Amino acid sequence: MGVGKIHYEFMDLPLRFHLFSAVVGMDGILKSISSDMQTVTGFDAGDWVGRPFSALMHHDDRNKWAGILNGEEEEMGLFMYRMNSKNGDYKWVESTYAVFKDLKYGEKPHIHLLTKDMTVVKELYDYLVSSEQLSMVGQLAAGIAHEIRNPLTSIKGFLQLMQAGVIDTGHYLDIMQNEIERIEMISSELLFLGRPKASDMKVCCLQTLLDEVLVLMETQSYGKNIQIETVFPSQPIFICCDDSKMKQVFVNLIKNGLEAMEEGGTLTVELSVAGERAAVAIRDEGIGIPPEKLEKIGQPFYTTKERGNGLGLMVCYQIVREHNGDISIESKPGEGTVFTVVLPWAGPDGEQEASGSF
Ligand SMILES: Nc1ncnc2c1ncn2[C@@H]1O[C@H](COP(=O)(O)OP(=O)(O)OP(=O)(O)O)[C@@H](O)[C@H]1O
Ligand SMILES: [Mg+2]
Repeated sequence: MGVGKIHYEFMDLPLRFHLFSAVVGMDGILKSISSDMQTVTGFDAGDWVGRPFSALMHHDDRNKWAGILNGEEEEMGLFMYRMNSKNGDYKWVESTYAVFKDLKYGEKPHIHLLTKDMTVVKELYDYLVSSEQLSMVGQLAAGIAHEIRNPLTSIKGFLQLMQAGVIDTGHYLDIMQNEIERIEMISSELLFLGRPKASDMKVCCLQTLLDEVLVLMETQSYGKNIQIETVFPSQPIFICCDDSKMKQVFVNLIKNGLEAMEEGGTLTVELSVAGERAAVAIRDEGIGIPPEKLEKIGQPFYTTKERGNGLGLMVCYQIVREHNGDISIESKPGEGTVFTVVLPWAGPDGEQEASGSF
């Protein structure tokens, strides 16, 4: 996405934050809705009273709402989702909600929602994610160039020896073939990450996704005396995700882990399932994060690195939140850090509903 995609005046943004309010029963049926809904969606508010509020939401964004209705979510909070509009498109909106008893609507508690048109914020956010993605890919490219040069030098050496008739080709052809395949995998992974594309939620096997990320990340541990180890269960673990965004999360976390290990060591990527959640733990043996700095982690532009942007983790948090997941951190200065990403598990065959909000 280029800069041209952002086509508004920043100072005019507040004018585009249209709001409307709604009251919904715990059965999900709209009791009341303010007429300003028309400004956001084009629909006539009166037509919606008595219908399920979820009918206004994009099918893939209804998880959180279902959780609010069945009491699994907090009684107050906010969530972002796509709302149907009259012209057939979807509008990004954010609802702040609170469940409470208002005698005007009877003895039972109702969900009160204040909903804001967030189209412009979503555009800004997408722009940020895609520019972070480009800067991440740029940073990876330097390490990859290094890593690719080595096998190319050895392939060239083998070819020269073969031409001179010094070595027997059979064995070396296999080595050369393997090296070329690895270079192919690394470059196609880098191209995949660098290519901006529209959001696309689909079922993915976490082992495959992480293996693909690790092909790239191994190029970053080059010359640093760092081992990357994986602890993966033998059964495939499925999640529903936008694979390029999810890769962006793991690249950022692993990159941070490697950058924290100036003295070398082992970086472990461990995958597990607990209950309805899949967890990916990225454990490094790096410098660690002092307790007083923990609260700054993930804030935009917080960096302790000379050449850092301080955006990697912020983008990770944002993407994981969109997938209805969480990131937690455990760290001991001088010993290392574990970042754990927890995501809704899509079940043993990947068929369980686990869609996120984008
Ligand atoms: N695994 C880790 N070990 C120690 N410190 C970490 C780790 N991960 C993150 N940090 C700290 O958090 C800060 C913010 O990380 P973040 O990834 O957001 O930005 P960055 O790595 O500095 O820059 P970039 O935008 O290029 O990723 C880092 O500068 C570092 O101080
Ligand atoms: Mg980083």
